[in-house]
Amino acid sequence: MELELRINGIIKSLDVAPNESLMTVLRQEGYHSVKHGCETGECGACNVLVDGVPRPSCVMLAAQAGGCTLTTVESLGTARKLHPLQEAFIDTGAIQCGFCTPGMVLSAHALLKSNPDPSENEVRDALSGNLCRCTGYVKPVEAVLRAAAIMRGETVPPISSPGSAENFKPWDPGRSPLEHAEYGASNPDAGPPYKSPGSPTTGEDSSAQGGTATLVGARTSTDLSIVGKPERKVDAVKLVTGKPAFVDDIDLRDMLHARLLTSPHAHAIIRAIDVSEARALSGVHAVLTYKDVPRIPYTTAGQSWPEPGPHDQYCLDNRVRFVGDRVAAVAAETPEIAEQALGLIHVDYEVLPAVLDPRQSTDPNAPRIHPEPESYRIHDASRNVAAHLHAEIGDVERGFAESDLVVEREYIVPQVQQTPIENHIVITYWDEDDRLVVRTSTQVPYHVRRIIAPVIGLPPRRIRVVKPRIGGGFGVKQEVLLEDICAILTMATDRPVKLEFSRAEEFRSSRSRHPQILRMKTGVKRDGTIIANQMTLLANTGAYGTHALTVQSNTGSKTLPIYPCANIRFDAEIVYTNLPPAGAFRGYGVPQGFFALESHIDEVAKQLGMDALELRRKNWLKEGDENPLARALGEGKEGYAQIIESCGLPQCLQIVEEKLNWKEKRGKSGSGRFRRGVGVSLAMHGTAIPGLDMGGASIKLNDDGSFNVLVGATDIGTGSDTVIAQIAAEVLGVRMEDIIMHSSDTDFAPFDTGAYASSTTYISGGATKKAAEQVRMQILDVAGRMLRANPETLTINDRVITAPNGQTVTVSQVALDSLHVENQQQIMSTASWMSYNSPPPFAAQGAEVEVDTETGVVRVLKAISAVDAGRVVNPIMAEGQIEGGSTQALGYGVCEEMVYDQQGALLTTNLSDYRIFSAVDMPQMESYLVETHDPFGPFGVKAIAEIPIDGMAPAVANAVADALGVRVHQIPLTPERVLLAIYTQSQNAKQ
Ligand code: FES
Ligand code: FES
Repeated sequence: MELELRINGIIKSLDVAPNESLMTVLRQEGYHSVKHGCETGECGACNVLVDGVPRPSCVMLAAQAGGCTLTTVESLGTARKLHPLQEAFIDTGAIQCGFCTPGMVLSAHALLKSNPDPSENEVRDALSGNLCRCTGYVKPVEAVLRAAAIMRGETVPPISSPGSAENFKPWDPGRSPLEHAEYGASNPDAGPPYKSPGSPTTGEDSSAQGGTATLVGARTSTDLSIVGKPERKVDAVKLVTGKPAFVDDIDLRDMLHARLLTSPHAHAIIRAIDVSEARALSGVHAVLTYKDVPRIPYTTAGQSWPEPGPHDQYCLDNRVRFVGDRVAAVAAETPEIAEQALGLIHVDYEVLPAVLDPRQSTDPNAPRIHPEPESYRIHDASRNVAAHLHAEIGDVERGFAESDLVVEREYIVPQVQQTPIENHIVITYWDEDDRLVVRTSTQVPYHVRRIIAPVIGLPPRRIRVVKPRIGGGFGVKQEVLLEDICAILTMATDRPVKLEFSRAEEFRSSRSRHPQILRMKTGVKRDGTIIANQMTLLANTGAYGTHALTVQSNTGSKTLPIYPCANIRFDAEIVYTNLPPAGAFRGYGVPQGFFALESHIDEVAKQLGMDALELRRKNWLKEGDENPLARALGEGKEGYAQIIESCGLPQCLQIVEEKLNWKEKRGKSGSGRFRRGVGVSLAMHGTAIPGLDMGGASIKLNDDGSFNVLVGATDIGTGSDTVIAQIAAEVLGVRMEDIIMHSSDTDFAPFDTGAYASSTTYISGGATKKAAEQVRMQILDVAGRMLRANPETLTINDRVITAPNGQTVTVSQVALDSLHVENQQQIMSTASWMSYNSPPPFAAQGAEVEVDTETGVVRVLKAISAVDAGRVVNPIMAEGQIEGGSTQALGYGVCEEMVYDQQGALLTTNLSDYRIFSAVDMPQMESYLVETHDPFGPFGVKAIAEIPIDGMAPAVANAVADALGVRVHQIPLTPERVLLAIYTQSQNAKQ
């Protein structure tokens, strides 16, 4: 049908199908800021303004927009002249992956049109329809308030900067760490926040709230000019203006659309499959079943070679092992034809018994999920055990015998989903050299190339993997889920093919966090000294064993060492069930472990009659200690000995204790309907995988003094491109705008293991620093010749090289001389970096909650994180990591859970039934960065990306236990579970 649309002031006459959504039409017309995050109007990524009102365009027919005025972000501002909202989103660090950003900016734009001076709660309300999985909403809210002030003509303070390095005073353990606060609200030089985002719920003082995190530290080096500064994100402008930066934002001629047929049964054999009708449908170009692809066992875990976990998957198989498992794939001219073709595939299933409960999976009578002989690296397929772990030091039984008190408890953690706002998506095509290009939303481009090569039957040299901007990953894109089948469809049709999960498929057929049942047993002396500690867990990996071994390895190795003692035992059994597979999820097994360990420590303290913080202080890991488990338990293999060179735990805990008002509030819940409590958790993590993770960087000087920095490091929204640019600029003595970042393309960038294990700043940053140092030496050599001075005597500062006699040349003059004038050479270098050390970042996290004892509803009022991530390269991005990670952990603690029916079909397949935090759900959030200096990483860095997700759920659980006097041993803390605990407590009291 003919339709006239007024888009951004331009009238367009379009031929649209009656059932076409407005989102589809706008994207086809090149408005790439309109993103696909769901199909149900729940995420806000597709928002456009319809007559000035934000509307999800995915649930609106294009025909309904006829005669309306449509506005997309493309009309707001350009890279040369940004709208104040766009400026503010960049300045405040409100953009991480940027996939939600255009929709958020439009919602804010509509708000400010009608209400130029909104309150913080009004901003949160306006953003409540825009889900963001990265930021925790702290900075987006701050951005809107800042833009509003600017648009009203008010003067706003500059985004606070740590300023010169001499601001950082040495840590004095005799004083409160907060007396050393320098960055943000606690810094008087930063000026008062015009309106600081704060708690929409408590109404309490919010003077030190998010967006203005405090940097507390002890910098040992004071001569840095770019590292340590809140530099703007290098990709922010293209993200905030809606430029075509993501996988789906290219238009290829003759592209086909793929869809997957998936299993309706939890366990079945495909007795027969008839695709003749589907193949005969006009517009269908390929239909693939297990009969059309080679049977190659592989793992979807994007890990280094050789991947340590089970190789138990097949591109397509004649056995399906969960509801949502692949059955067939179709490529057709349109998504609608592909969908129609799926309905024409006739499958005759022999439905098999399924096992859904991990406790029943190893029963002798349980169905075997992987009887096939080709699969390998399965620990014991006859018992459905994908992997098994055991590590022990000392004599644990003797330790228990020597203890004055032994406490044993069971804890249960749920299966939760990573839920990036951009679903998995891949586009494959042949290039002009007959090489296969895989443009994919991945965290691991190099692993994708290596892993799909044998599955699709092409050598890696004929595959090029390109990672553009990624709309969030959080581990789920460390899985190679769609690239193989999409590639085979391109090979079958000789056409570009696009394959994308719907939101429901993302929930049903991608990956999740391993649910676990953990048993803690701890022996202590009367004075609180831990003598023996044991963690035993049963984990459910679902139908496939991807990451089964290594995730659960981390559950023990990254948690138990925080309380070193002579006797530690860790046992894990990871079993198959007929449920959707678990995999990598930010935290990678550690949030599960800390929920059990840190809940348990509170229980031990209670039984001892001891303050819970005192018990922690008595036993925690300290600088100079050896990590007791590091050697015994590596990631999928033996590890390496590790001495703790830096540890900010004392400062972190002291900050959280002070900011929670621990002494005044702990144990004082009151007796009315609403009870309040406070809780704390400690956390530690790792920084990259020692002896395994490796990254490369390549730096080339251009004749204007700019540098191309090529890295395989994979920025998935975390800001790693910016951090790497800062490291390069710092070493090279130039400005941020002199660095042109390129990541990641397997044809052009050096190898990198990818974005996981909190490794990028440490590993890829280390490679960048090394390459930059080599380039710097080459520059100084040329400059020395030009200035007739010894290169070793020269300095570079702000693009200028200065000799001791005061003579100077610029980096650009060196480049011109080197490329065009004398001894011509390309100044460039490549370096790589790996490490046998994995310095742990540390954190203390605290929560204050209010529990409604009549409804069981838990409201988190305050969430505080103090994190020691070593040297902080970019504080604004580091606090963004803390805020985002903490928010995901709040969901883990109180509301997120994948729920199934009795046949194993997932019930939570949309963003209403599976609820992640929105802007109006947020508590008051405070972040503190406790700087330490670790000797191993570049500039003393440690990891930041994962540790904020580790401790918040147990902190909330401990706070709920403080409020109620009774503990809920299972998260999320749903009203039902809380009410059951209250009821059981009251029944026990009557007996
Ligand atoms: S609300 Fe339309 S894509 Fe999610
Ligand atoms: S920045 Fe909001 S979803 Fe990533």
